[in-house]
Amino acid sequence: MVEPIRRSTREEREQWIKEANYNLFKLKSDQVFIDLLTDSGTGAMSDRQWSEMMLGDESYAGASSYFKMKNTIKEILGFDHFLPTHQGRAAENVLFSVLVKAGDVVPGNSHFDTTKGHIEYRKATAIDCTIDEAFDTTVEHPFKGNIDLNKLEKILKDTPQEKIPFVVVTLTNNSSGGQPVSMENIKAVRKLADKYGAKLMFDSARFAENAYFIKKREPGYADKTIREIVLEMFSHADSMTMSSKKDAIVNIGGFTAMRSKELYDKASVFNIMYEGYLTYGGLSGRDMNALAQGLREGTEYDYLDTRISQVAYLGQKLAEYGVPVQHPFGGHAIFVDAKRFLSHLPKEQFQAQTLAVELYIEAGIRGVEIGALLADRDPVTRENRYPDLELLRLAIPRRVYTNNHMDYIAAALANVYERRHSIVKGLKIVNEAPIMRHFTVDLAKV
Ligand SMILES: Cc1ncc(COP(=O)(O)O)c(C=O)c1O
Repeated sequence: MVEPIRRSTREEREQWIKEANYNLFKLKSDQVFIDLLTDSGTGAMSDRQWSEMMLGDESYAGASSYFKMKNTIKEILGFDHFLPTHQGRAAENVLFSVLVKAGDVVPGNSHFDTTKGHIEYRKATAIDCTIDEAFDTTVEHPFKGNIDLNKLEKILKDTPQEKIPFVVVTLTNNSSGGQPVSMENIKAVRKLADKYGAKLMFDSARFAENAYFIKKREPGYADKTIREIVLEMFSHADSMTMSSKKDAIVNIGGFTAMRSKELYDKASVFNIMYEGYLTYGGLSGRDMNALAQGLREGTEYDYLDTRISQVAYLGQKLAEYGVPVQHPFGGHAIFVDAKRFLSHLPKEQFQAQTLAVELYIEAGIRGVEIGALLADRDPVTRENRYPDLELLRLAIPRRVYTNNHMDYIAAALANVYERRHSIVKGLKIVNEAPIMRHFTVDLAKV
């Protein structure tokens, strides 16, 4: 689909962002010129996906669209059992309702905010075991999404087995910069999990982009197809959740899949309760058809190469302008290092959110903060958590923008970078929700 986008003036944007309480989620979409808030559900569907929409089977039970999705998941990901859900966090809700209980510990690589939210809501603890290199944006490392095996083993060793429902591997690692996990690391995590009797769960929103990086960067994979790499990756997982709004290039949809029939049976109860009957789970037949088709298109090499090269094109332009960004460039987004960009502002003034607001005022571009606002408060002490990385994420929707848009984005951010020392005040919180506050938080200028 092609959609119009609208220009605005700086004065209008200053007024709009003030009315939105400096929270970019609260802007209306027509107040945004280029929308890089997320790559989730914002992709453009293909002619084939739209054709599949017309073939949707809307039967309540046993729809052919369900079987289309089931067969595609089996073929591409290798799982026998799956439950459709309306999006990724719903898949987490269904699966975690069976697996996660109060007092549990869930190690992983920079759990995504909803994943962490669903763990902490159940009074369990998410522990980040990402390698240290991920937290220095200047370090070049091909697989910054990797799990640090020593950190993981320490947790597995020190925690009773029944308190670890699974280890999460997030593919790619969104929160640390869309960074991939290597096959070698996946295998090593599997081995450790086996040693301590733990299960392995993949948070798979961008699994195809992860496979692309394995093909490009990991010795021994250059001649394998994306589909072969994907099957190998998932052969190491016991279960998975997926937000299909990313690598399946649909506007809504998700699922959880598992090897164990027993786990499927238990999760089915929650799926029916929260999502819908087993063969639609919150999706219409046409959504399931588009999703199945999207899984095929999202795992094609040419598509992935075009997409990830576009993200790198933006990253390269920004680097040329001297803007500090996470290296190497991520799969779905460029992450600007706000700590280095606005190093003169204290962290208590939310550097990444301040930068997001400045970029919006500069050029009508909407990015998103991945920093202290997102990190939320410690569930026990209620103190603000300040993560090592304070990032502004510029997520690139799939098949939507051209490189001309990328040029505009890079020039706009370079302008803000040039005048960065004139940004002398950040933001403070006026109102916040008790959990996942970043979506609804109200802010004011300090
Ligand atoms: C890594 C990861 N996991 C889970 C989710 C949650 O998925 P959804 O937004 O479809 O609920 C997201 C969404 O952005 C994600 O990036």
